[in-house]
Amino acid sequence: MELTITRPDDWHLHLRDGDLLKAVIPHSSNHFGRGIVMPNLKPPVTTTAAAVAYRESILKALPAGSDFTPLMTLYLTDTTSPNEIKLARKSGAIFGVKLYPAGATTNSQDGVTDLFGKCLPVLEEMIEQNMPLLVHGEVTDPSVDVFDREKVFIDTVLQPLIERLPLLKVVMEHITTADAVRFVESCKEGFVAATVTPQHLLLNRNSLFQGGLQPHNYCLPVLKREIHRQAIVSAVTSGSRRFFLGTDSAPHEKRNKECSCGCAGIFNAPVALSLYAKVFEEAGALDKLEAFTSFNGPDFYGLPRNTSKIKLRKTPWKVPDSYSFSFGEIVPMSAGQTLEWKPSFA
Ligand code: DOR
Ligand code: ZN
Repeated sequence: MELTITRPDDWHLHLRDGDLLKAVIPHSSNHFGRGIVMPNLKPPVTTTAAAVAYRESILKALPAGSDFTPLMTLYLTDTTSPNEIKLARKSGAIFGVKLYPAGATTNSQDGVTDLFGKCLPVLEEMIEQNMPLLVHGEVTDPSVDVFDREKVFIDTVLQPLIERLPLLKVVMEHITTADAVRFVESCKEGFVAATVTPQHLLLNRNSLFQGGLQPHNYCLPVLKREIHRQAIVSAVTSGSRRFFLGTDSAPHEKRNKECSCGCAGIFNAPVALSLYAKVFEEAGALDKLEAFTSFNGPDFYGLPRNTSKIKLRKTPWKVPDSYSFSFGEIVPMSAGQTLEWKPSFA
């Protein structure tokens, strides 16, 4: 069996920098046409100048002949100026501004503490410039249970935000709950959408503890109950245009995952398309796969759809236990497992 689909894009991707960038980028550029590149480097990418320089280093790191296009983002802080949004739009290189609530996840310590105060003029300028806000949707209050942080964020931040700024385009990134599905479906189509990762479609929170602690299944927002996973699968396989592919592929070296305080992040770029195809096939919705992988994202961002195609063949292939690089190893999602769908250029 074989499927030919329009080349997908990845609307949520961590490419890192330096050696790690060079090591991981082929796994995205092999399959995807474009990627929304997250700005949570050290230091974070807070200015247009830094984003443009980061874009150059990504282009240099691409394998020869690759036509992958990085779509850059800015990291929002309490001190980002409205003028920076004008510069970002003018550069033609920047396609979104990422909101990390301070302390929510990897390298978010410089994130936002005062969205409705200090950041309001920036959000208003983003409406002017038609620049989407990409949201890590979790509260950081340590008294809120880690499994409730997305729902509390929706109730206390996102819902008030869209009521106050109904013309702001918002992508709720890597949704993990039935609450997020309901929220996105309740908003005006074309203004609020969500990305969905392979792990939140395939795994529930039991996978964190299966036979012992499983650090390679740890990401943020953390995996949730099975009912939430099922709600997300139903949403994406329904054919709704509000949901699109965003892997949140977030590589960390094996030694930084398998240690006393392991990093959050799942490296899924090598397996993402195989896993999305598995989810849609199991739901009897392979006919809806292409819109999710290749149409809904560019349509929301107002960008053209890709014109080239890729093939997905139903042929078993074994995921490596790890990928070795000069500096160390990275363990991918589904390491050592046999997957059924194999992507290649058409
Ligand atoms: O699991 C995660 N890893 N979630 C994030 O929000 C950030 C990411 C990373 O950069 O490693
Ligand atoms: Zn991410």
